Amino acid sequence: MMHFTQFFSLLLSLAALASSKSTNTPYAYSPYRYSPYTYSSDDTPAGGLSFQYPFPVHFYEFTSQQKHLSMAYMDVPPANGTTFKGAITLLHGKNFCGATWNYTAHVLAADGFRVIIPDQIGFCKSSKILQYQFSLHQLATNTNGLLNSLNITNATIMGHSMGGMISSRYALTFPDQTHQLVLVDPLGLEDWQAIGVPYQIIDTSFQTELATTFSSVKAYQQATYYSGNWSSSYDIWVQMLMDVYEGPEGRTFAYDMALTTDMIFTEPIVYQLPNLAMKSLLIVGDEDNTAIGKAWAPANIKPLLGHYEVLGKETAARVPNMTLIEFPTLGHAPQVEDPVGFHAALLGWLGQT
Ligand SMILES: *[C@@H]1O[C@H](CO)[C@@H](O)[C@H](O)[C@H]1NC(C)=O
Ligand SMILES: *[C@@H]1O[C@H](CO)[C@@H](O)[C@H](O)[C@H]1NC(C)=O
Ligand SMILES: *[C@@H]1O[C@H](CO)[C@@H](O)[C@H](O)[C@H]1NC(C)=O
Ligand SMILES: *[C@@H]1O[C@H](CO)[C@@H](O)[C@H](O)[C@H]1NC(C)=O
Ligand SMILES: *[C@@H]1O[C@H](CO)[C@@H](O)[C@H](O)[C@H]1NC(C)=O
Ligand SMILES: *[C@@H]1O[C@H](CO)[C@@H](O)[C@H](O)[C@H]1NC(C)=O
Repeated sequence: MMHFTQFFSLLLSLAALASSKSTNTPYAYSPYRYSPYTYSSDDTPAGGLSFQYPFPVHFYEFTSQQKHLSMAYMDVPPANGTTFKGAITLLHGKNFCGATWNYTAHVLAADGFRVIIPDQIGFCKSSKILQYQFSLHQLATNTNGLLNSLNITNATIMGHSMGGMISSRYALTFPDQTHQLVLVDPLGLEDWQAIGVPYQIIDTSFQTELATTFSSVKAYQQATYYSGNWSSSYDIWVQMLMDVYEGPEGRTFAYDMALTTDMIFTEPIVYQLPNLAMKSLLIVGDEDNTAIGKAWAPANIKPLLGHYEVLGKETAARVPNMTLIEFPTLGHAPQVEDPVGFHAALLGWLGQT
């Protein structure tokens, strides 16, 4: 295993590489900077992920918990000829990366939005790190730091899965900077431990992470994301994740994934959701059955977990100003499973202001 100082110097050289690559450093906002349909050729293989992202990748460098960290992000300007509608940030889920928002970014940019798409610390093209106190607060604060570095203080915050949980925390922590909130099959609509899922130590989760394969990821996503169905167009997202697991930072990444599982499980946000006051949208696929800890829950507890067909309605009833859009036949990733239906619903709601 890599010694920490070696890892740290690797991180520093990576960061140096990253900042030398992003020549366009502080991004001066211009809606006509580049066409959203042209692809970056200087896509830095950062964070142990060489996967080609659909838009130029920039790096937000900052210090957190006494470490120098590099947060990758894409910054997609509104398409030419559109009326500027504001900034929107898209937060990826635990098994996806910023790049998975490609379709959504095109749709939103074509509608006049500036779209900021970060990779969270520990994920994808951002820094992997052996010692970090991951928390929803920390990741939400990192995201706020990124947005503020771009002078964005009034964004629509949208997140999927774990990204939805971070978005909720963001909106609770920075309500004055959250114009509106969009949650897509977010985690945290229930407290799994309170229902009966036992705590699993990080070391055990780490062993599970180390055993990750293409087929284990595919089997999981097939069952929870796509109602048992599979399309070859989903393979790319499994392969992207495997690129990190099997890449040069794979072992550290696996550890970060164990740490973030612990974060999600031990920080129930469900009790604070009614404190969200801004206009918000909750989109759920009713076939979604995601629940952290279901894999290690006792047999009598498993059937009680992850009923999004119930959780969506319950949540919308508890949170003021929250609109619910349900897709009865879709699972955990409606934006991937039915992009046309999903984005029509999203734009419909965004356009109602
Ligand atoms: C957008 O506008 C810029 C500046 O006018 C132009 O260079 C660019 O080709 C345009 N892109 C598209 C896709 O029309
Ligand atoms: C935030 O942005 C939205 C959309 O661009 C705008 O309608 C709203 O007035 C802004 N709020 C503040 C406080 O600037
Ligand atoms: C991103 O989306 C655009 C528009 O839907 C598509 O043309 C392009 O092939 C996609 N790129 C990637 C890398 O998936
Ligand atoms: C943010 O705003 C400050 C103050 O107006 C300005 O100096 C700085 O260049 C801006 N940064 C970006 C990235 O736009
Ligand atoms: C697969 O998709 C179809 C519609 O596309 C849906 O009716 C069905 O419930 C899904 N699940 C399975 C296991 O076939
Ligand atoms: C939220 O709901 C309250 C009470 O119904 C209402 O007074 C307020 O205007 C709403 N805010 C928004 C942003 O819709």
